[in-house]
Amino acid sequence: MNERILSKRLRQIANYLPEKANFADIGSDHAYLPCFVCSQDKNATAIAGEINEGPYRSAERNVAALHLTDQVKVIKGDGLAVLNNQDVDQVVIAGMGGTLIRTILMQGKDKLTNVKRIIAQPNVDAYAVREWFYNNNYHLIAEEIIKEDGHIYEILIADKEVTTPIYDEKQLRASLLFGPYLLKENSVVFQEKWESEKNKLERVVKQMHQAKEIDYEKIKQFQYEIELIEEVLNHD
Ligand SMILES: C[S@@+](CC[C@H](N)C(=O)[O-])C[C@H]1O[C@@H](n2cnc3c(N)ncnc32)[C@H](O)[C@@H]1O
Repeated sequence: MNERILSKRLRQIANYLPEKANFADIGSDHAYLPCFVCSQDKNATAIAGEINEGPYRSAERNVAALHLTDQVKVIKGDGLAVLNNQDVDQVVIAGMGGTLIRTILMQGKDKLTNVKRIIAQPNVDAYAVREWFYNNNYHLIAEEIIKEDGHIYEILIADKEVTTPIYDEKQLRASLLFGPYLLKENSVVFQEKWESEKNKLERVVKQMHQAKEIDYEKIKQFQYEIELIEEVLNHD
């Protein structure tokens, strides 16, 4: 397993795992991430959790083919339930929607007692994950936004029990929506993402105005979001 095989997205995630990582990769699919990390670092150990039979088998095959069975345990199960009697220090949940990631964290909260770092890569709805972190004593310490094969990905890294900043309501909304680090960095990819989100929301609002029963409350929410995005896009 080498760097050429691993996507830029998964390599960025691997960068935020420490040496001698002891982590779970939930929804591991082919177990590419655990195989990469454990091939590079003989002191690292991982659990590859998978709910579906096909990806679970594929993970097992890859781990065996790379002679990593001593370091990577492949376990079939739903979300953090695979951590039943296993202690890990870091959890990675990548390549799913933000609301599914939030559900996995919510349902498996009791498995997180000793987890110092969570790395999440929501494909959409990063807001849901940031909000869960904010309400559950995990504090963002870094964020990445990258573009690969035409897709834009956000990676959120949160550590347990470091002080959470105090925001007013608008700051909190903006911070959860855009991400405090991504907002500050204001990269070209970030601008591209929010330009596209704004266009999507404007199209939705236009369609909502044409509906038989107009949901003014929802339109107001979307319009507020569009205003927040415009502020960010017009900010130097
Ligand atoms: C798109 S893949 C992402 C794979 C890998 N994490 C990555 O980022 O490249 C999502 C994987 O999550 C698995 N999955 C979805 N819901 C899950 C759950 N509740 N628990 C464990 N795995 C889940 C799916 O079967 C699928 O293999």
